[in-house]
Amino acid sequence: MKIFNLSMECYPVAKVGGLADVVGALPKYLNKNDGVEASVIMPWYNRPFVHDHEFEIVFNGWIHQSFHTFEVTVMKERSKVLGFDLYLVKIPGLLDRDNPYGYWDESQQFLAFQHGVLHWLTAMKIKPDVLHCHDYHTGLVPFMIENCPEFKFLSGVKTIGTIHNGEYQGQMRWEMAEYFPWFRGDKIGLLDWNGWINPLAAMLKCCHAFNAVSEGYLDELFHSLRGLESLVQREHAKAYGIINGIDTEVWDPNTDAFLEFNYSKENALEGKWRNKKELCTEYGLNPDLPLVSFIGRFAGEKGADLLPDIVWKSIQETYGGLNIMILGSGEKHVENQLKDLSYSYSNFALDLGYKEFLSHKIYASSDFLLMPSRVEPCGLNQMYAMRYGTVPIVRYTGGLRDTVEDISTGGSGINFGAASAEDAVHAIHRALHIYHDKGLMDSLVHSNMDYDFSWEKSAEKYLHLYQR
Ligand code: ADP
Ligand code: GLC
Repeated sequence: MKIFNLSMECYPVAKVGGLADVVGALPKYLNKNDGVEASVIMPWYNRPFVHDHEFEIVFNGWIHQSFHTFEVTVMKERSKVLGFDLYLVKIPGLLDRDNPYGYWDESQQFLAFQHGVLHWLTAMKIKPDVLHCHDYHTGLVPFMIENCPEFKFLSGVKTIGTIHNGEYQGQMRWEMAEYFPWFRGDKIGLLDWNGWINPLAAMLKCCHAFNAVSEGYLDELFHSLRGLESLVQREHAKAYGIINGIDTEVWDPNTDAFLEFNYSKENALEGKWRNKKELCTEYGLNPDLPLVSFIGRFAGEKGADLLPDIVWKSIQETYGGLNIMILGSGEKHVENQLKDLSYSYSNFALDLGYKEFLSHKIYASSDFLLMPSRVEPCGLNQMYAMRYGTVPIVRYTGGLRDTVEDISTGGSGINFGAASAEDAVHAIHRALHIYHDKGLMDSLVHSNMDYDFSWEKSAEKYLHLYQR
């Protein structure tokens, strides 16, 4: 079975968040099954590669969009490191930028990527069994292969759409239809949602099956998907929930090259302590105090706007009885408030930016990882934390609900109900009680490292879905 994953991100080539981790791992684990050939197609960005690579140009052609013509070159990376073939689609003038997102013309970028991919597959007569589209950026593909005469050759190819994050849907004004050279007036209904071209809606309408990245999140989508909930209800027969896994080869405290001190379950207490001491010393924190951390994008869905209140309230209420460390970036008002707090409290360390190596050190060094998310389709951080013997403190929502049970019922972490600073700080108080009960804390470190979040099980579920 030949499966192409279409995505804007893929670890370790380009990563903004969990989408990259998933797309960089799922095909690798699918490929461990006989007869499966899964690969990834993503844009070629202007950024240095983090591993050795060798390219072969497999296609060169042109696409026309509105009044513009773009050259499309597809390069195949032969890599033993990744565990799958990687195809990079280079479109000079549109996709050869530094980052996957954040440009004024991103609607056109995503359209051109999808157009370029289908043009290449059609021209080279490559017909996969499954096109697996990740998020709205590639959500128009199921529509395009069935409704554009140019891609008739691909008609009938099965399409799966995965919703990693329904907060973003890629709505475009109808004037953008001029960028769809294949557009036909009688197909408006497949693209439109409430007067806009909505690529996520088009994906749900046109794909053969779609899935959310956890069952908990799928349940939520039936009632809340930024206006698309009635569409999810209507298309319920093709809706699935499949929880993400984590790549336990990349995320292994025993071999993690980013860690100062590697450790396994046997020497976890000592290993975590040594990493913590190192990190705390570097950031001016007291290693004898419990360390609660946050890693992530400063966005409303992550509850990042609550962080400033959480920081000062928990430090005040515990009379400085804990350390807080935050790594992330995003909304400027959050960054600025946190910066101010970091000047006022020596117990609070802030690192603004995206730092893969530091995230690994924080998972290993922390006692607790806080995730006050308003929306969390799956969340990988809590799984990485547990793999590194850290206790997650999570708001009870989406994938967090599916992966972190409260310790009061024998689970691995602490749940709290409302996305508010009060509830989060209350949960932190509970965490500190656990921390001071050394027997309980040590046993949690060990038992959390035992949880199996590896990709095998979830990859098998995707395989069943493809087969179906
Ligand atoms: P999302 O994709 O919504 O951001 P996930 O929990 O699925 O959330 O995945 C986030 C991924 O990005 C994890 O691998 C996490 O470690 C990483 N990450 C987030 N912010 C940063 C950062 N500032 N520096 C390094 N890694 C980060
Ligand atoms: C999205 C979600 C996150 C999920 C990730 C990978 O970015 O916000 O919860 O873990 O995709 O599926």
